[in-house]
Amino acid sequence: MPRAKRRDLFSKRMVGYVNWHRGRKYVHRREVLNLLTHDLTERKPDHIAVTGDLVNLGLPDEFIRAAEWLHHLGPPARVTAIPGNHDAYVRLHPERGTRHWQPYMESNQGGELLVPTPPTLFPFVRRFGDIAIIALSSAIPTMPFIAAGKVGSLQRGLLGDALSRLGREGLFRVVLIHHPPLPGQAGWHRGLRDAGRTTSVMKQNGVELVLHGHNHEQTILELETVSGTATVIGVPSASEAVEGRAPAARYNEYAIARTDGGWRCEMVGRCVAAAGEHVWECERRVLRER
Ligand SMILES: [Fe+2]
Repeated sequence: MPRAKRRDLFSKRMVGYVNWHRGRKYVHRREVLNLLTHDLTERKPDHIAVTGDLVNLGLPDEFIRAAEWLHHLGPPARVTAIPGNHDAYVRLHPERGTRHWQPYMESNQGGELLVPTPPTLFPFVRRFGDIAIIALSSAIPTMPFIAAGKVGSLQRGLLGDALSRLGREGLFRVVLIHHPPLPGQAGWHRGLRDAGRTTSVMKQNGVELVLHGHNHEQTILELETVSGTATVIGVPSASEAVEGRAPAARYNEYAIARTDGGWRCEMVGRCVAAAGEHVWECERRVLRER
């Protein structure tokens, strides 16, 4: 967290600043993030998806530091990011905020050919061979103590079109969204306001894998869709210290391959160990094999 100037704290940021210094700074640790990041980049994945939050209070310097971290993960062609609720903490001119991450938040050529990006920028689509990433933004500015999100009718409509189009192409569709998308996964104060309607769009058009953050815990749920069972996965924070209340920092690795008439998808969880000095394989599970 960069030092905040007094004038930057006249807003919701004041509440967040107090929260940070009273507790969050002891929970979210740079050294933990560095450890996890090092393990992740050493394993040389084909692609990295970051589902937010990347900053705390939305201070201009935080956005620059987050951009540096994204750059450390890899070039924009190999890293996709979406914003979380903290990334829209206060209304900030885009040039001073998420615009710093723009190269990580736009379609690639393959995705653009299939689904052109709307003027509102979300959802954008990236295609990598048999796999398509559909990236949503659920980040909205809210009142203090509220961490809710919303996809909105415009994005929901575009999401439906994109899913149906990519489904017709026979691609493995991965939706990225910061807030947990299923109804009941988070309460009114911090949940997705249009979880029901967003879930309906995914059910009606089909999706294979949905990845989200926000809840800081590992969850694996299933969603029955028109094209089969989708897996909905939440992952803990990437910076959570081992002794915190929430599960320690973790990321998940997904191996996705086409099979005869279906898909195989295996998840490997990589967690920061209790001693806090190394990362280990804490879970391995085949999510689908059909
Ligand atoms: Fe969040």
